[in-house]
Amino acid sequence: MGAETNLFIRDLRAGYDSLDILNGVDLDVPKGQFVALLGPNGAGKSTLLKTLYGMTTIKGGNIDWCGKNIAGYKSKSILGEGISFVPQGRCNFPVMTVDENLQMAAYSIRDARVKADRDYVYDLFPILKKRRATLAGNMSGGEQQLLEVAMAVLQRPKVLLVDEPSVGLSPAAIGIVFDELLRLHADGMTILLVEQNTKKAMEVAQRAVILRLGKVIWDGLPKDITHDELGELFLTGKMRGETEAVH
Ligand SMILES: Nc1ncnc2c1ncn2[C@@H]1O[C@H](COP(=O)(O)OP(=O)(O)OP(=O)(O)O)[C@@H](O)[C@H]1O
Ligand SMILES: [Mg+2]
Repeated sequence: MGAETNLFIRDLRAGYDSLDILNGVDLDVPKGQFVALLGPNGAGKSTLLKTLYGMTTIKGGNIDWCGKNIAGYKSKSILGEGISFVPQGRCNFPVMTVDENLQMAAYSIRDARVKADRDYVYDLFPILKKRRATLAGNMSGGEQQLLEVAMAVLQRPKVLLVDEPSVGLSPAAIGIVFDELLRLHADGMTILLVEQNTKKAMEVAQRAVILRLGKVIWDGLPKDITHDELGELFLTGKMRGETEAVH
């Protein structure tokens, strides 16, 4: 685990127009760490990732990235700063081939090195190389999820934000996607992963952060919280036996 922390989120408040969803989020993501962001439906997990990627209305607070406050930056600039985002749900171009999808992802940042970038991704994801001429929409859910991760990785990010990659996938496909995330992490990638499959997330992540009602209510090591305690926190915001919410 790298000692250097390069993403500091402080008192981040954000939402959609006049709707407030994040109510003062504090979170540090150290370089090279694999962090799972968990919490009940509607807690604001996707909103937090979208906010880091410049897709919501920021009401206050800081997103300090490598010494720069990037709160308020547009997505394209954030991508240029080395932060890539794999959104929740399918986000490929289904009637284009795998190769064309990767080409589109490469063009979104620069066009000079498209081929080199695709080759880089094919080395990382040999499964996609085999399917390069297949229409993305004709691939399995797991293969499409890998393609979407690959489209983000092609930008050569320093941090990967991934929202719910396991949704709708078979256990075998979930295994493949998570193995790929672990491999990217082993190669040095910093990962902030939102996941409903808490069991799987706790297996792969080095640290878990629980968000509820737009605030971080627990932040610690997966080994320091049981599955039951996690469920209790999701439901009530409190650990069993406590009268006050954690934090
Ligand atoms: N584009 C939007 N416009 C207005 N409100 C939104 C928008 N997207 C999300 N919300 C609202 O923001 C709140 C938080 O949603 P968000 O998607 O961040 O939750 P989540 O923790 O990711 O939940 P889930 O586990 O269901 O994916 C919800 O009340 C949701 O209805
Ligand atoms: Mg979500």
